[in-house]
Amino acid sequence: MTKLNLDINQIIELDAESKYFKEVYKSQVLEIDSNHLVISIPYQEKQPILLGVGTKIEVTAKRIGKDSKFKSEIIDRDLDQEIFKIIKPDGISRNKRQYSKENMAKVIAVTSGKGGVGKSTFVSNLAVALAQNDKRVSVIDADLGTANLDILLNINAEYNLGDVIDGRKALIEVVEEGPEGVVLVPGGSGFQALTKLEEVQFSKLISSFNQLDEYSDLILIDTAAGVSENVTNFLLAADETIVVTTPEPHCIIDAYSIIKVASNLEKDIKIKLVVNKADDKEEATKVANKMKQVVKEYIGLDIDFIGYIAMDLNVLKAIKKKELLLLSHPRSKASKGIKDIVSNHFLEEEASEEVKGIKGFINKFKGFIS
Ligand SMILES: Nc1ncnc2c1ncn2[C@@H]1O[C@H](COP(=O)(O)OP(=O)(O)OP(=O)(O)O)[C@@H](O)[C@H]1O
Ligand SMILES: [Mg+2]
Repeated sequence: MTKLNLDINQIIELDAESKYFKEVYKSQVLEIDSNHLVISIPYQEKQPILLGVGTKIEVTAKRIGKDSKFKSEIIDRDLDQEIFKIIKPDGISRNKRQYSKENMAKVIAVTSGKGGVGKSTFVSNLAVALAQNDKRVSVIDADLGTANLDILLNINAEYNLGDVIDGRKALIEVVEEGPEGVVLVPGGSGFQALTKLEEVQFSKLISSFNQLDEYSDLILIDTAAGVSENVTNFLLAADETIVVTTPEPHCIIDAYSIIKVASNLEKDIKIKLVVNKADDKEEATKVANKMKQVVKEYIGLDIDFIGYIAMDLNVLKAIKKKELLLLSHPRSKASKGIKDIVSNHFLEEEASEEVKGIKGFINKFKGFIS
């Protein structure tokens, strides 16, 4: 008997005993009951894969380092809701994490003025740290020029956002599951299109993020660096924006610029600051206080310093070994910084916060382009 814990939200693969549907299709676990599972109807080339009731399937659930497989059968389908009901074999149970369906996913954009400050390192490790604290996390690699979250999260991505933008794939077909069940929407390198997207295409892309909402507590968006319209569109539409800076003067000035541009477009924008590659807490606090003061004085905006990450050679060691810092060096200085940000900012606050979620994100975005 296979013993396996499944998460709500988890990506699975279906291999059907069918003459017509011969490939392996991606789906997502939506509900786990005592004797059946509800899963999303898979898509291929943007067409729903309408397996018939009674079709036998082999299900593969991916987990770090190992896949688990079990046999099942489709017992019902609802084409309007785009779901299959399948048999749940004994031994399959629901992970003990408890999720509330009513909560909308909080959308957080992570950006910087200057490139190379450590956004992607931060986002990938933050996602896994949040997942270790029982949050369901989806990550969107929106830096299509030099997307690399797949590499940082050690995921072999077959498709990416480029395929979604070009209309070849539905979002669910490109997502991959990474460490601790983090769901990644891969970005795809060398793809210039995001900076040149037509508004309609961009709007469609953002609408497709909708599919992540119900199954995520947090949606992290790793944007490109610098001020461009598509980057600011992401920032404006998110519930909050984390600006990453290093203590270097150039970097601070560029961070200031992006805050200024964003706040010119929306005066109440919620900006959080993370200082990366700091020598120590003292240096980081100094940089953050200076930044807060200048932003308050010249822009009239209160920004919130949510933590710092030390300059740490373990970050480079982890990358060389193709491992995620938080998993390979959990007690390193840099990992500690990320964990502190999770406990101080993400686990403490909440409740009272107004979260618009991805639907708010989409509406807000549409408001900006019209
Ligand atoms: N705390 C840290 N200590 C040491 N090195 C770090 C730290 N954070 C990031 N780095 C290194 O800095 C470099 C840039 O990091 P990363 O790719 O995460 O930046 P980025 O802001 O996403 O860059 P880009 O703007 O190109 O997307 C990488 O080599 C990374 O290993
Ligand atoms: Mg990056």
